[in-house]
Amino acid sequence: MTDVAAASPPAKASAFHELEVLWVRHWTDQLFSFAIARPDDFRFRSGEFVMIGLPGQDGGKPILRAYSIASPGWAEELEFLSIKVPDGPLTSRLQKIQPGDTVLMGKKPTGTLVLDALTGGERLWLIGTGTGLAPWLSVVRDPDTYSRFRHVVVCHTVRHVADLTYRDFLTAGIHDDPLIGEEAKAQLTYYPTVTREPFEHPGRITDRIRSGALFDDLGLPHGFSPERDRVMLCGSMAMIKETAELLEAFGMKEGSNAEPGDYVLERAFVG
Ligand SMILES: Cc1cc2nc3c(=O)[nH]c(=O)nc-3n(C[C@H](O)[C@H](O)[C@H](O)COP(=O)(O)OP(=O)(O)OC[C@H]3O[C@@H](n4cnc5c(N)ncnc54)[C@H](O)[C@@H]3O)c2cc1C
Ligand SMILES: NC(=O)c1ccc[n+]([C@@H]2O[C@H](COP(=O)([O-])OP(=O)(O)OC[C@H]3O[C@@H](n4cnc5c(N)ncnc54)[C@H](OP(=O)(O)O)[C@@H]3O)[C@@H](O)[C@H]2O)c1
Repeated sequence: MTDVAAASPPAKASAFHELEVLWVRHWTDQLFSFAIARPDDFRFRSGEFVMIGLPGQDGGKPILRAYSIASPGWAEELEFLSIKVPDGPLTSRLQKIQPGDTVLMGKKPTGTLVLDALTGGERLWLIGTGTGLAPWLSVVRDPDTYSRFRHVVVCHTVRHVADLTYRDFLTAGIHDDPLIGEEAKAQLTYYPTVTREPFEHPGRITDRIRSGALFDDLGLPHGFSPERDRVMLCGSMAMIKETAELLEAFGMKEGSNAEPGDYVLERAFVG
């Protein structure tokens, strides 16, 4: 008789965690959030992203996509903010998940939207469009953010008011957070803008930077300064490219994990 265990190659460790969906919240027919259980051995830095996916259908390969983790590095559950692309290979299915279902998650978080990739400064600007808000939800719930920066500004630009996910949380709910509530109340400013219907701050963030409206609204000096300001950018490629050009014109230099700088960016989606 052959010893099957001895003859078989060692079982290959799976590249993914299989994790339980804890809750799902649908914001609009385009956007939803969900949370999954955090594996005990999963470590990440606030602002990083990870691969999220579902098993393949009919025995096919799993489908995985990059997702920013919306929870801070200390959280017990892992929260995500997702688009619903009607014919998207992943999100056409992911949008149907329910509590108790299983999703796949990669084991290696990574990314540049982390405090480590910025040099010291006074004011941190977190500028995002659409689901590009997700990493800021992580960064603004991290106590390190408030010890490193005196003032933190979250700028979120969307098409419609209904797309302002987490608006209530960023306006008020975060002030009740037992860990960073007091700091958020004193140091965090939320600045939403809406481009395709009337709103108190109308238009793209890039246009409000150029016109100076952003700085007037916040009672701050116009422009960004390499001595004072640090910036993170996340969202559409067009917004990132345009804002990065504006920042470079102010003398800001892009940073990375290897070489921290004045601003960092990550493309969360094309378009
Ligand atoms: C570093 C990184 C972080 C990301 N983080 C997130 C995140 O936190 N939340 C999230 O929803 N997506 C995020 N994405 C996009 C995500 O990886 C997928 O593209 C998205 O889940 C759609 O997957 P899909 O297979 O359904 O469609 P895909 O085939 O991946 O996309 C189809 C098309 O839909 C559009 N699209 C895709 N994602 C978005 C989006 N988020 N917002 C607007 N338009 C989009 C693009 O035009 C794209 O070409 C991230 C991408 C990268 C590279
Ligand atoms: N969210 C919706 O209500 C909606 C509705 C229908 C379809 N969709 C589909 O969903 C996908 C994602 O839509 P989305 O709204 O999340 O993402 P999006 O199209 O990138 O728009 C998000 C926000 O970013 C702004 N923006 C775009 N380019 C910019 C730039 N260069 N500088 C500064 N701001 C910029 C947009 O302003 P502008 O409005 O000025 O472009 C909008 O307010 C798209 O494929 C879209 O076709 C979304």
